[in-house]
Amino acid sequence: MKGLAGKNALITGASSGIGQAIAIRLAQEGCNIAINYRKSAEEAEDTEEIALQKACGQVDECGVKSLLIQGDVSKEEDIINLVNTTIDTFGSLDILINNAGVQTECPSHEIATEEFDRVLSINLRGAFLCARETIKHLVSRNQPGTIINISSVHEIIPRPLYLSYSISKGGMENMTKTLALEYANRGIRVNAIAPGATVTPINEEWVEDPQKKAVVESHIPMARAGTAEEMAAAVAFLASEEAAYITGQTLFVDGGLTLYADFREAWSA
Ligand code: NAI
Repeated sequence: MKGLAGKNALITGASSGIGQAIAIRLAQEGCNIAINYRKSAEEAEDTEEIALQKACGQVDECGVKSLLIQGDVSKEEDIINLVNTTIDTFGSLDILINNAGVQTECPSHEIATEEFDRVLSINLRGAFLCARETIKHLVSRNQPGTIINISSVHEIIPRPLYLSYSISKGGMENMTKTLALEYANRGIRVNAIAPGATVTPINEEWVEDPQKKAVVESHIPMARAGTAEEMAAAVAFLASEEAAYITGQTLFVDGGLTLYADFREAWSA
């Protein structure tokens, strides 16, 4: 896609699922990729190997540069290190993908304060701190750049039993718009994608169970879950110059999940 080759991208939580697919897709588009992982260096190495293989047909002497960085996005010092290491290694940072995220299920009146804080500190505060450090860098160099937040359909659909998660994604929508407005005149675009139900490890509970998967898919107008690669394609578009005039938007990549599927058939006057 136009304008991606040679750009430097940092992807948080890139050792699995949607983040991994984004790292691979951006490498295929010619971006240098900084792969952040929290726990599994092995999974991050897999991401790197697949990305370089797909980008160049070989891993050694690939024109695309890559970097693995361990870091927990709920820790400010780790985030500063993530951004600085990317800049020190690649020379600059052009594209930030705020992908790292967690979810936990619990009746809202029973959520422990620490658990609420944990989800918000990864999904929302972590995304903000990554954005802040990236924007600091772009502004200091008077350089354009782009940030893409991986939100969720639950930025607008309330999700009982997942209050912390829903709040984090709702906050992400506002963060996307506010940062987009604040930095539009500096050439910094900020957008989000909102995946619907996607086949990744975060959904292992239903992904591996055909009956549960069928129930999930029965709610989706397109009658199937999405793939991580479909999310990555939308991210590549928003990061590219094809989307040069788009900022402050959330692109829903959800097979129609946000179209009020219950209205498929007439049931009310
Ligand atoms: P996943 O569980 O494979 O990916 C989440 C990634 O975030 C993992 O690599 C994990 O290690 C990383 N992570 C978690 N805590 C971290 C921390 N403190 N520091 C750094 N990394 C951390 O699941 P998936 O689906 O790929 O999730 C990616 C994003 O997509 C998340 O933000 C999620 O909320 C969002 N999403 C996923 C949907 C789905 O149906 N799979 C639907 C809507 C949104």
